[in-house]
Amino acid sequence: MRSHYCGEIDAANVGEQVELCGWVHRRRDHGGVIFLDVRDRTGIVQVVYDPDTEDSFATADRVRNEYVLHMTGRVRPRPEGTVNPDMATGEIEVLGATLDILNPSATPPFQLDEHSDAGEDVRLKHRYLDLRRPEMQQRLVLRARAASAVRRYLEAQGYLEVETPTLTKTTPEGARDYLVPSRTHPGTFFALPQSPQLFKQLLMVSGFDKYYQIARCYRDEDLRHDRQPEFTQIDIEASFVSEEDIRALTEGMLRQVFREVLEVELPEFPVLDYDDAMRRFGSDKPDLRNPLELVDVADLMQQVEFKVFNAPANDPKGRVVALRAPGGGSLSRKVIDDYTDFVGRYGAKGLAYIKVNDLAAGAEGLQSPILKFLPEQVVQQVLARVGAGDGDVVFFGADRHDVVADAMGALRNALGRDLGLIEDRWAPCWVVDWPLFEETREGALAPAHHPFTRPTCTPEELLANPAGARAAAYDVVLNGYELGGGSLRIHDEAMQNAVFEALNMGQEAQVKFGFLLDALKYGAPPHGGIALGFDRLVMLMTGVHAIRDVIAFPKTQTAACLMTQAPSAVDDHQLRDLHIRLRKGQTKE
Ligand code: AMO
Ligand code: AMP
Repeated sequence: MRSHYCGEIDAANVGEQVELCGWVHRRRDHGGVIFLDVRDRTGIVQVVYDPDTEDSFATADRVRNEYVLHMTGRVRPRPEGTVNPDMATGEIEVLGATLDILNPSATPPFQLDEHSDAGEDVRLKHRYLDLRRPEMQQRLVLRARAASAVRRYLEAQGYLEVETPTLTKTTPEGARDYLVPSRTHPGTFFALPQSPQLFKQLLMVSGFDKYYQIARCYRDEDLRHDRQPEFTQIDIEASFVSEEDIRALTEGMLRQVFREVLEVELPEFPVLDYDDAMRRFGSDKPDLRNPLELVDVADLMQQVEFKVFNAPANDPKGRVVALRAPGGGSLSRKVIDDYTDFVGRYGAKGLAYIKVNDLAAGAEGLQSPILKFLPEQVVQQVLARVGAGDGDVVFFGADRHDVVADAMGALRNALGRDLGLIEDRWAPCWVVDWPLFEETREGALAPAHHPFTRPTCTPEELLANPAGARAAAYDVVLNGYELGGGSLRIHDEAMQNAVFEALNMGQEAQVKFGFLLDALKYGAPPHGGIALGFDRLVMLMTGVHAIRDVIAFPKTQTAACLMTQAPSAVDDHQLRDLHIRLRKGQTKE
C-alpha cells in the first residue's frame, strides 16, 4: 500500500510519485489549499491538496486529526520562504493526487504533539494514543536499538540467551513477591521471579558457562520514578570468571550500546570502595557529575563544648562532616530552613551552617548560629580543610554514620542541582568491596545483596565476625543511579551453609533454596554475574525522568494499569477453581 515512509522522504525524492499511509497529525486550511501533516512511525510529511484535484480536495476537507489515510502524490520542493528547518522533511512537500480515508477517528482526548500538557492519568488510560506521539515513538525505537546492541555484543562475546521460568518459587532479592495461585495444587502458590538469580546459577552448574537473558522481573515494592513492579534486566552470568572479568564485560557492553545508539564514547569507569563512596558522597550510588564532597571533621570536634558535634565526634558509630557549597553564601534564611526540613526527612536533627562573607576578616567575616559554640581556631581549621572562600556556605551534619550519610548525601544531591553544579557529562563508576551483610532495624543481620554472594573471607572467619565480612560484589552506577549490581557467587556447600548460619536461616534456607544447595554438591563451577536495569539504562539514555516513559505499557505509582484496569476482580467460579475464598470486606465491585 505504500512506497515510502512519511519521515523518510527528502530532497532526493523530488519529482517522484509516492504512495503513503499514515495518521493526520495536523490539518490546516489556508483558504483554498489544505495542508495535511501526515505522521507514521518515522516522522511527519506535509501533503498539500488544492482544488484542482476536486475529489481529493473534498476528502481532505473532511479529514480530522488522527484519521488514517492512504494517499498518492508527487514530491516537490517547498516554495521559497516556506522551508521548515525544524522538520526532517521540511525542505519538501507532497502535492497530493489521490486520497482515501482508511478509517476515521474520534476526537482524541488529548493533543498528540510535543506541546501536549495532558495529565499522566489520561495519557496512561489511552496509552495507545500516547504512544503515537513522536517522542514516545522515538524512545521505544531507542529502547529496541539498545536491546539489539546488547544482544549482539553479548553474543559476540560467546554468551548464550536462555529463558528461565516466570512461574516459579520465591527468589531472594528482598522485595515482596507477586504470587500466582495454583489450581492443580490446592492451597499453593507460584511466585513470579524477582530476578532469574537462582536459575542462572543453576545454568552454570549445568555447564552453560556464559548465559544472558533480557529478563522480565517482578517486585511488589514501593514504587518510585525509577522503579516499576514489572521491569526488565539485562541478566548475565558466567563461570570461571573474576570480578574484573565481569566488570570489563559490562563496561564493554555499555560502551558499545552508547556508541551505537547515541554516538557517545563513555569515559573511564572509576572504581570506588563502598566505604570511600559513603565517606565522600554519603551514597553507595554517587553522582560523580556533582563536584561537592563531604569532608570529615570529627577529629576537630572532639574537644569542643558544642554537644551536637562533640557527642558524635567521640562516638565510634558517630560522624561529623562538613559540606562546602560554593556560592551558597547568598542562600536566604528561608532556603536554609527548607534545607533543614529536607535533611530532617532523612533523620537529621538539624543543619548547622557557617556563611563565609569575608574570610580574611576572621570571625567578623563569618555568619552562623553556631560560632558562639566553637573556638575560632577550630572554625578556621574546618574552613581551611573544606577550602571555603568568600561567598560560600559550609553545612554540617553530626549524627550516627548512617544518618549523616543519608541526610548529607541527599543534601549534596540537592545543592548540586539547586546551585547548578551538575556537570553536563556521563559519569559512570563502579562501587566495590561491599559489606556482606547489613543490620536490620531489629538488629539482626540480612544479606546486603542476596545470600548467594561470595564473601571474601573463609567460612570460619565469616562465622567469627559476620558483621565485618566483605563481599565480592560490585554495583555499576551512572549519573547517580544504580544501574546494575552483581557479585561472584558461593559455589561450595560449606561456605553457603556458613552464610545461612550467620543469617540464622538454616531450616528456612533448606525449604526455600534446598534445590540450589543440592546442586552445589554436584561439581558447581566458580561463577559470578551481574544484572542491569534495562529500563533505567534507557531512561538515562533518553534523558527522561521516569522509567514509565520508556516502557510501552507501564503501571501507575499504585501498581495499576489504567488502560486495562488491571488488577481487577475475578469471577467467583475462577476463585473456586483456585481454591480461594476472599475475606469479608475484601471483595471489589
Ligand atoms: P538487583 O536487585 O540489584 O540485583 O537488580 C539489578 C538491577 O535491576 C534494576 N531494578 C529495577 N528496575 C526497575 N524497577 C525495579 N523495581 C527494579 N529493581 C531493580 C536496578 C538494579 O541495579 N540477581 C541480582 C543481580 C546479580 O546478582 O546478578 C539482582 O537482581 O537497575
Ligand atoms: P541547637 O543547639 O539544637 O539549637 O542547634 C544549633 C545549630 O546546630 C542549629 O543550627 C541546628 O540546626 C544545628 N544542629 C542541631 N543538630 C544537628 C545535627 N545533628 N547535625 C548538624 N547540625 C545540627
